[in-house]
Amino acid sequence: MALAELAREVARTGDPQAVDYVFGGAGTEDTMRANEEAFRRWRIVPRMLRDVGERDLSVSVLGTALPAPLALAPIGVQTIVHPDGELATARAAAAVGLPMTVSTMSAFPLEEVAAAAPGPKWFQLYWPTNRDLAASFISRAEAAGFQAIVVTLDTFLPGWKPRDLQRGWQPFLQGVGIANYFSDPVFRSLLDAPPEEDPQTAIGTFVGVFTNPRLTWEDLEFLRSRTELPIALKGILHPEDARLAREHGMDAVVVSNHGGRQVDGAIATLNALPAVVDAVGGELQVLLDSGVRSGADAVKALALGADAVLIGRPYVWGLAAGGETGVLAVLRGLLAELDLTIGLSGHAAPGQLGSGLLVRDGAA
Ligand code: FNR
Repeated sequence: MALAELAREVARTGDPQAVDYVFGGAGTEDTMRANEEAFRRWRIVPRMLRDVGERDLSVSVLGTALPAPLALAPIGVQTIVHPDGELATARAAAAVGLPMTVSTMSAFPLEEVAAAAPGPKWFQLYWPTNRDLAASFISRAEAAGFQAIVVTLDTFLPGWKPRDLQRGWQPFLQGVGIANYFSDPVFRSLLDAPPEEDPQTAIGTFVGVFTNPRLTWEDLEFLRSRTELPIALKGILHPEDARLAREHGMDAVVVSNHGGRQVDGAIATLNALPAVVDAVGGELQVLLDSGVRSGADAVKALALGADAVLIGRPYVWGLAAGGETGVLAVLRGLLAELDLTIGLSGHAAPGQLGSGLLVRDGAA
């Protein structure tokens, strides 16, 4: 089934509030649409007769060896679309060797997701107001064998998401997607009664620690001092912020607008990418997400200088439709299409892709 058809099917048949949560964006959803449209504005100009019989898509990103420049974006509360949630996603990602980025908001504790399948994993951190809790999340991720930390910066306040507001629905307030907090010794030490006995008070405590709008660049020093793992900053759109990431000892940035779920009106990520690559490319690794819907989209981002792209909503559609098998089908399809598009455009490896491969739509 084509991805667009899968999306339509999931939107039609899924639980309406979960569908709105996954498909929805901030405000008028203008940025969410712009992300996809930005890919349509670039066109690939394929080259012929270049012996691409042997292709090698492998790359190294954040110290992890990948079979292709793709990884799974962090997506929280995956049990809202399928009871196996992140466990199914972990198994599917491991089956194709792509890294799964496990969200702080995973429906299962990060240790359980790590144990579900042996594949490569990165841990996505939402930096709480409590530093000890941040440190605890990091050490748990290290102990569970995660290979990198992805700190998401763009969610220090909740986005204005009309679809969820209209429904008055927030999974975390129902106690779903906060397993990493409830299982954490530092979080538990903040409570008078364990979450199993008094979930409502524990949810209230979670709300108090979850987002931290007071963070500054200086706080990164604390994180850098706490872990030897590579660190990526997710949610970078401005080239100056990419430079600051480099100055603060980070290893990578993820050019992302959170799939259009935070700042409505924000720049599409593909349009933000070239300036970020100009600012730090070659010194920091540059990843991109938001709007990638095909192997061709991935090729366009790679040609504009991304070292890898993160797949977001599409694998959740697969999860909703068919659990582990559904995620696997989506990932296999994207991998095959990426390989074919690289080959058919006359290239044998991601490193060969450059901006010369693309023209603006309508340009000669
Ligand atoms: C997300 N995203 C996200 N990001 C993050 O750092 N931690 C998280 O827990 C979540 N949760 C989440 C839930 C849902 C339902 C969606 C759709 C997205 C953002 C995600 O990592 C990624 O940036 C976007 O999904 C990319 O946009 P597209 O390609 O999915 O449109």
